[in-house]
Amino acid sequence: MYTLNQLNGFVKNCSKCDLYKERNHTVFGQGNENADIMFVGEGPGYYEDVEGVAFVGPAGGLLTKALNHIGIKREDVYIANIVKCRPPNNRNPLKEEMAACIQYLRYQFKIIKPEIIVCLGAIASVNIIDSSFKISKQRGKWIHKKNVWILPTFHPAAVLRDSAKEEPFFSDFLEIKRKHEELITSGGK
Ligand code: URA
Repeated sequence: MYTLNQLNGFVKNCSKCDLYKERNHTVFGQGNENADIMFVGEGPGYYEDVEGVAFVGPAGGLLTKALNHIGIKREDVYIANIVKCRPPNNRNPLKEEMAACIQYLRYQFKIIKPEIIVCLGAIASVNIIDSSFKISKQRGKWIHKKNVWILPTFHPAAVLRDSAKEEPFFSDFLEIKRKHEELITSGGK
């Protein structure tokens, strides 16, 4: 089994898809390596590509706000993405780009062993939950898969574009808190 540092080294040198050609930085993910809760987005945007850190732009600001809302610090969770390099002009990652990159995320899951995975948006949900996943029907509903509780919610960037998504997004975070406390009470990791 690799360590997260070793994996990050592989990602930094990765050229398994064409996204490496235009990247400024790879964005491996960051946070508590022992986190109970792991958040997974789609892929780096402009700010993340500049800094090499996941969710630091406006969508990241909303993620931080939602975490504060439930009394959890960013440093206590782990934050990663489906693809580790920025798709040009923030387009959706292509199937072959996700297929090339997903193994890194699988290793991150194996090392961190989160009890809860929160899929931020449809792209993370389709890749982690099921290829026929529909965010409009399945958001906010827990899935228990391979002994991990998975909650799909909106991508924070989608919430920033559509204020009608704010209330369900914040209520999903309350649900994350509730489930986390329930798991701690019943024995934790
Ligand atoms: N959007 C994502 O999906 N991930 C990031 O890291 C930033 C924006």
